[in-house]
Amino acid sequence: MNVIKQFLSDWKTTGAVVATSQFTQATMLDMVDFSRIKLAVEFGPGSGAITKCILSRMRPDATLIGVEINPSFAEVLRERIADSRLEIVVDSATHLPAILEARGPGRADCVFSSLPFMNLPPDLRDEILQAAREGLKPGAQLVALQYTPWVLPRLLRRYFGGYHFRFNLLNVPPAFVYSAARGD
Ligand SMILES: C[S@@+](CC[C@H](N)C(=O)[O-])C[C@H]1O[C@@H](n2cnc3c(N)ncnc32)[C@H](O)[C@@H]1O
Repeated sequence: MNVIKQFLSDWKTTGAVVATSQFTQATMLDMVDFSRIKLAVEFGPGSGAITKCILSRMRPDATLIGVEINPSFAEVLRERIADSRLEIVVDSATHLPAILEARGPGRADCVFSSLPFMNLPPDLRDEILQAAREGLKPGAQLVALQYTPWVLPRLLRRYFGGYHFRFNLLNVPPAFVYSAARGD
């Protein structure tokens, strides 16, 4: 089971033909201060390219919840990544507040996303951004990878009040990495 196979069977949800490059992973992770992160969430971990990098930078006492809608990817992640700090939940990112609530009190210190917003219907995009905002602590950060600059900036302005971004050419296709903090 790989990203190309999943892309061919469900291109809209998978959104990429190859896994995110190490250069883009580094761009995403360099935007975050991992010393402050106790609970992180990854939307759409897929085959785990970014997941492994997040875990390599996380504190030993931190937790990463991977929220993956595709059960085949979830199975691959469980087989490939043996790390007690990683919890894989087969669910939609739209359910983040309920996923966190089921674990007890406490919201996330950071949400990483590589969801293909461009391919998703507008209502679903809104639901995901609302869920990310609600699941984050005040001041905590959403870091999102995108292959186009057309959809996400508008949503980040609406739900987070603004954003920063970096552009990375060393990815197939070239990638934009956005960072936005929950304001209150
Ligand atoms: C572009 S792939 C990213 C894979 C991997 N993170 C990477 O960067 O190489 C997008 C991933 O998001 C997942 N996905 C799409 N919609 C989702 C949703 N609503 N909730 C959770 N995961 C979703 C897909 O199944 C896929 O694994």
